[in-house]
Amino acid sequence: GLPAEVTIWEVGARDGLQNEKETVPLEVKLEFLRRMADAGLAVLEATSFVHPKWVPQLADAAELIDGLDQVPGVRYPVLVPNERGLDRALDAKVRDIAIFAAASETFAQRNLNSGLDEQFAMFEPVVGRAVGEGIAVRGYLSMCFGDPWEGPVPVEQVVATGKRLLEMGCHQLSLGDTIGVATPGHVEALLRAFVAAGVGVDGIAVHFHDTYGQALANTATALRHGVSTVDSSAGGLGGCPYAKSATGNLATEDLIWMLDGLGIQHGVDLGKLVDTSVWMAEQLGRPSPSRVVKALSS
Ligand code: HMG
Ligand code: MG
Repeated sequence: GLPAEVTIWEVGARDGLQNEKETVPLEVKLEFLRRMADAGLAVLEATSFVHPKWVPQLADAAELIDGLDQVPGVRYPVLVPNERGLDRALDAKVRDIAIFAAASETFAQRNLNSGLDEQFAMFEPVVGRAVGEGIAVRGYLSMCFGDPWEGPVPVEQVVATGKRLLEMGCHQLSLGDTIGVATPGHVEALLRAFVAAGVGVDGIAVHFHDTYGQALANTATALRHGVSTVDSSAGGLGGCPYAKSATGNLATEDLIWMLDGLGIQHGVDLGKLVDTSVWMAEQLGRPSPSRVVKALSS
């Protein structure tokens, strides 16, 4: 059945901004995060400690964490790919991280300069050290529903890769539809396969990009299967610079509209968040693709 409450894992400041062509000023990023916390979002993925040449948009990660006025009770996780990234995150006093794995060989190469098997050698010391220091580690898994170079990704390969992340010590697995090709039947099949392999839905989050307009339908399907952590980005910002055809994430406002209709608690003030996305759209110089933002701001 449906969960009574959903945790929204807001990725706008990270997934949303990593792909922008024009550099977003640090002050704008900080204001964006401040406004989202004020709207009631309790998990704000803030930035990535990745190689600055690979993602120039987030090269200011250390300055951003330093400049954050952290609201008590709000989590500010960051992406960390390797030990160098972990060192930088620890220097910045970060206590909440996510590693990001690929479910396909090609994306492991394109996004991590690694391989499907090889990537685990990079993650193992990161997770080991972080868990040893009492730091929560989320494990992202990308291309769970298809890969732009390889096409379909076998469900068994996705489940095996995801299980390895959990066995390594990740407290949660976020199933990424990086290029937005998933449909509800595929979501159901993958969730059933994880459960059959002994992974409970409690440890699973979903991360849908909205390229083909299926993100909300996919999310509804995941909720009906008991998933209660959903990734989304304010205003539907987003995309991955290393995956062609990756567009914005499920918009947080669209998610909230649906959760309200289903009577599911989420703790966010929709009006404040819409105002935030309208403000952010002005900063970026283009309108938000979110239908709910459009409907409520016109
Ligand atoms: P590499 O070039 O293979 O790195 O990149 P390396 O280990 O060979 O090191 C080369 C040099 O980079 C060394 O410096 C390192 O110190 C330095 P040198 O000794 O030559 O002077 N270096 C670093 N510097 C700063 N921070 C670091 C770092 N690591 C190495 N962390 C690497 C490998 C993983 C670093 C690179 O491929 C990378 O940064 N990739 C990140 C790509 C990325 O951020 N993609 C977007 C996020 S994933 C996503 O969006 C999907 C998601 O939303 C879910 C979904 O939608 O599916 C999460
Ligand atoms: Mg993503």
